[in-house]
Amino acid sequence: MSHTCRIELDGKSYDFPTVEGTENERGIDITTLRDRTGYITLDEGYGNTGSCTSAITYIDGDKGILRYRGIPIEQLAEKASFIETAWLVIWGRLPTAEELQRFRTRLTANEMLHESLRNNFEGFPPNAHPMAILSAMINAMSCYEPDMMDIEDDTTLERAAARIISKVRTIAAASYKMSIGQPLMYPHPEYSYCKNFLHMMFSLPYGEYEPDPEIIHALSLFLILHADHEQNCSTSTVRMVASSGANMFASCAAGVCALWGPLHGGANVAVIEMLEFISQSGMKVSDYVAKVKEKDSKLRLMGFGHRVYKNFDPRSKILKAAADKMLARLNIQDPLLEIAGELEDVALNDPYFVERKLYPNVDFYSGIILRAMGIPLNMFTVMFAIGRMPGWIANWKEIHDNPKARLNRPRQIYIGNTIQDYVPIDQR
Ligand code: CMC
Repeated sequence: MSHTCRIELDGKSYDFPTVEGTENERGIDITTLRDRTGYITLDEGYGNTGSCTSAITYIDGDKGILRYRGIPIEQLAEKASFIETAWLVIWGRLPTAEELQRFRTRLTANEMLHESLRNNFEGFPPNAHPMAILSAMINAMSCYEPDMMDIEDDTTLERAAARIISKVRTIAAASYKMSIGQPLMYPHPEYSYCKNFLHMMFSLPYGEYEPDPEIIHALSLFLILHADHEQNCSTSTVRMVASSGANMFASCAAGVCALWGPLHGGANVAVIEMLEFISQSGMKVSDYVAKVKEKDSKLRLMGFGHRVYKNFDPRSKILKAAADKMLARLNIQDPLLEIAGELEDVALNDPYFVERKLYPNVDFYSGIILRAMGIPLNMFTVMFAIGRMPGWIANWKEIHDNPKARLNRPRQIYIGNTIQDYVPIDQR
């Protein structure tokens, strides 16, 4: 049902149409607001601003619902592989057996890095952050793909998507190997996506790493749960860059940079650092929580709260169950896990967190699961980026395929100096 929104401004009234999504999400279409009234809307942090319509991911933050292309995340976590999920997210439907096989073949064909691209790793200092390397290398990849700068057909798009999704794990593993001074491992064409990544991370020229199936399963789950999450900070960045007509590689490289920050993808690192701090300081969990609540402490309980979820993050429920299962099976006793459990109990029963609807988010458990897999801390956000690649590509494609897409260019309310004259340097 369509509605009209009436706005009264300076004694005049203006009508604006409303839009309704397929899940009854409602918005006011203010595209003509400035032209008609001279006003713009101001919404710092974009908490109330819809930047686009999108058919990729649906979230109901109050009910804790997450669906990719309409399919509940719980079903995908139980039944799908990461590659099947990636195809679904990008192309909007589950692949047929033939499409899935074709995509897998493309991934295998693209798993190696061009030797010159491999040499780029030499240009980074040994302690370079893997997120800096990842972003730079995804951008550098575009230099080797001139035919993919302008994507004109579905086959090229599928080839480009396969190239990024496949090579990103090779780059990620190589950046880790470089940082610890070990030789880079070549991918293995017969391994699955997840096993191949673990092989490139942990095998040595003289010793093949054989991951426990539970670890492969947990990695696949982690990647599925991170595949997309509608208009979050990094995805909005990808769309912003894509809206200028920038290629898929440049847009995804920008997404990596946005993901790096501790309030976004970097939170999975911050969670472990926080748990380590509590453990090493010998502080009681309740005392740490009390400190977080102090008005001027500037501390946050990392891994808690979400701009959209005002309920349990459905991804955190799935990851918690997987973490419990994996730790039990591998017989891992992690003291940080006990602190995490205590924190969860304290926060979920504390009025400060209850009133603000601050629940554990995906990063609270993903840090624990990655740590149990043996992934080093500075690679955690890289793991998030590998998982999020299909979502970024799908959002890039949505802009690329939309004939009505416009350059994203927000307005501002200027609050700086009014006009003043230039003062020559000797008179200042
Ligand atoms: N610990 C303590 N207090 C918090 C927290 C937290 N983690 N998160 C929000 N608050 C408080 C905040 O201080 C404010 O209180 P008051 O109303 O008294 O000023 C209130 O809750 C609302 O906070 P906000 O900053 O307006 O909320 P936001 O929607 O802007 O922030 C967030 C969302 C995720 C940035 C924030 O909850 C946070 O910083 N969490 C910790 C970092 C984290 O875990 N990030 C990962 C997010 S999930 C993965 C992803 O999407 O990237």
